[in-house]
Amino acid sequence: MTAEIPSFTLNDGTKMPSIGLGCWMGTPGGGERVYNMCLSAIKAGYRHFDTAAGYGNEVQVGNAIRDSGIPRNEIYLTTKLGNLDHGRVKEAFEESLKNLNTEYIDMYLMHWPQARKPNGEQAGGYAVFRPNESPTFVETWKDMEKLLDGGKVKSIGVSNFSIKNLEILLPHCTVNPATNQVELHPCLPQNDLKAYCESKRIILTAYSPLGQPASPDQPVSLFNNDIVKKLASKLNVDVAQVLISWGAQRKTVVIPKTENKQRMTSNITLVKLSPEDMKILDDLHLQPGMHCTLCFNAKVDSGRLNGWTLEELGFPEHLYRTKS
Ligand SMILES: NC(=O)c1ccc[n+]([C@@H]2O[C@H](COP(=O)([O-])OP(=O)(O)OC[C@H]3O[C@@H](n4cnc5c(N)ncnc54)[C@H](OP(=O)(O)O)[C@@H]3O)[C@@H](O)[C@H]2O)c1
Repeated sequence: MTAEIPSFTLNDGTKMPSIGLGCWMGTPGGGERVYNMCLSAIKAGYRHFDTAAGYGNEVQVGNAIRDSGIPRNEIYLTTKLGNLDHGRVKEAFEESLKNLNTEYIDMYLMHWPQARKPNGEQAGGYAVFRPNESPTFVETWKDMEKLLDGGKVKSIGVSNFSIKNLEILLPHCTVNPATNQVELHPCLPQNDLKAYCESKRIILTAYSPLGQPASPDQPVSLFNNDIVKKLASKLNVDVAQVLISWGAQRKTVVIPKTENKQRMTSNITLVKLSPEDMKILDDLHLQPGMHCTLCFNAKVDSGRLNGWTLEELGFPEHLYRTKS
């Protein structure tokens, strides 16, 4: 076992620590809890934080980083452009910089491909522009590329992009996304997307790598799974360590969230998995009923996720149970 956290070199030459702390608290905000979580995480050895304008806690993440006394250049900081801000990339980026109270951001992601309309709702959530309506994600990406000229962001990337939407985006890119942050764990290993992204030198970042174990809407749990539990017990570690190590060992960046100090330490204590151990987790999704989202079951409303249909998102429909 090792507490050493390897970094991955991105397609723009920068390095990203393979494990980071997720800062989504389940609902926007989190105030003091987020500040304390990040400060404790830095003490536990974390040097990579994943937040977003939409998480409503950039201020607390930024304050914890500043108050930790760790030099800024030893911390890797990711934040994300909100869906309401696709038409105002520069302004939204400046707001994030101000909230985080930092000179620069290491990684700025387009949180979702769909742009939200300022007002209104529709079936399946808030009102959004359709894929071919302006601002399209291609237009938004071109504005994100311009941010690189200002020197206040080191890398840019995307999140929740499928092969379908990357195929639309990439021909327009002057700078390819450095990472694509997507739901990824053994129930949703994203094998096709991973192979596609690797062929374009885009590293996947795995969000919800533990499968959001506290979610009440989730019929499948990685923590209650006998195969995963048996592997963890054989290796004398806990289930989360096995899941996080699997993600890092297959060269994806992994960003579990925890407020619990003990779990903070165990989550960054990686374990070396043998090829046989890796295969057990690689094959888990082949078990009956195990290949599915663990984040969005109750959130796919009228076939839509955050306003776009699963087809528009390019997400395989059979992996997402639609709320009736
Ligand atoms: N780009 C996107 O659209 C997107 C979407 C979702 C998430 N994300 C990012 O990915 C991060 C991680 O995903 P997530 O927060 O959705 O889910 P997750 O990391 O899979 O799960 C977090 C949950 O697991 C619990 N947990 C953490 N370590 C544990 C352990 N060792 N044993 C048992 N339970 C443990 C946490 O509770 P405690 O805090 O009580 O330990 C929390 O309830 C987010 O925080 C966010 O930064 C991005």
